[in-house]
Amino acid sequence: MKLSERAGRIEPSPTLAITSLAKKMKSEGRDVLSFGSGEPDFDTPFVIKEKIKKALDAGFTKYTPATGTQKLKELICEKLKKENGLDYKPESVVISSGAKHSLYNIMMAVLNPGDEVLIPEPYWVSYPEMVRLADGLPVFVPCFEENDFKLKPEDVKKKITDRTKALIINSPSNPTGAVYEESDLKKIAEICVAKDILVISDEIYEKIIYPPAEHVSIASFGSEIFKRTIVVNGFSKSYSMTGLRMGYLAGPSDIVRAIGNIQSHSTSNPVSIVMRGLEEAFWIDDEIEKMRRTFEKRRDVIVEKLNGIQGISCRKPEGAFYVFPNIRSLGMGSFEFAEKILKEKEVAVVPGKPFGADENIRLSYATDDETIRRGLERIEEFVKKIQS
Ligand SMILES: Cc1ncc(COP(=O)(O)O)c(C=O)c1O
Repeated sequence: MKLSERAGRIEPSPTLAITSLAKKMKSEGRDVLSFGSGEPDFDTPFVIKEKIKKALDAGFTKYTPATGTQKLKELICEKLKKENGLDYKPESVVISSGAKHSLYNIMMAVLNPGDEVLIPEPYWVSYPEMVRLADGLPVFVPCFEENDFKLKPEDVKKKITDRTKALIINSPSNPTGAVYEESDLKKIAEICVAKDILVISDEIYEKIIYPPAEHVSIASFGSEIFKRTIVVNGFSKSYSMTGLRMGYLAGPSDIVRAIGNIQSHSTSNPVSIVMRGLEEAFWIDDEIEKMRRTFEKRRDVIVEKLNGIQGISCRKPEGAFYVFPNIRSLGMGSFEFAEKILKEKEVAVVPGKPFGADENIRLSYATDDETIRRGLERIEEFVKKIQS
């Protein structure tokens, strides 16, 4: 069968590939320690599970409006107002099956063939592939480790052409954990307003953030940037419910209307009982804070241990649950490192190359303390062996 050109343009997700290989090795009885996963290791909060069960028992199992329930949209607007200072009406919100789905819908709604999307590099692996699927062209803007992997406003300017349609901002970032400061975001916002560029602000890790870093939405810097920004967020990471698939976007009415049409002819509404469950358990700040604090402790341990290994250097992430250590001095690329350490030490890490950073590897610390402790010991042994 001759497949579509579109399907041929994209690669399978390398993060999922390494996680499933590690899972396979585990199922064969091998003692694999995995730092691959992009999902919190905590159980989904009890109250959310209970409310979803209740919705199921109450028979809330039929179609809802394609863009999500009115009640959940209202709660999302309340959240965006209270926590981000953003004024949206429920009509400006589309709830989808995960933030990934929201991002995909955006690309389908705004890109024409050849339209360029600026993507800060290192980037989450799905951004360029989604742009390509929608016939757009990803344009990478390098962010250097010396600058804490953050975009410099002048580097954004250099990459703008008359085909530039949008810029993706992901703060806190996967894979680097970088969190943008307000002053830099403001300058980036000014450029986007001056050049009339749409900002796609992926804020999915918003609540997994470590003081003194603070989350600010780029959309909050006045009406001009507000009308050029689509805010993307979701429940997967902060509510520890990745498999329940619930995300959302809010943005300008013309784009939101187009996205609503696309969703109504593709997936229709996201899962009814999960929406109803969230309607009844939307504010779970204490639960979220408990998980955030645990992540923060783990971050401190993992960063200190990695920096104690000669040949590895690791900046301290301000958000999300990933570290992105540099392995340049070990004399091998990130794929070689990841393959060798999986085979020789049964430690699963994700190579940085698919994120646009071959000198780095990504370790998720969304895993238990014991795995972190034993895994770091094995990484140290592995690195010592390379250097001996
Ligand atoms: C930066 C970023 N954005 C979006 C997503 C998508 O999350 P979900 O589709 O589970 O809501 C992820 C998941 O790994 C991510 O890392």
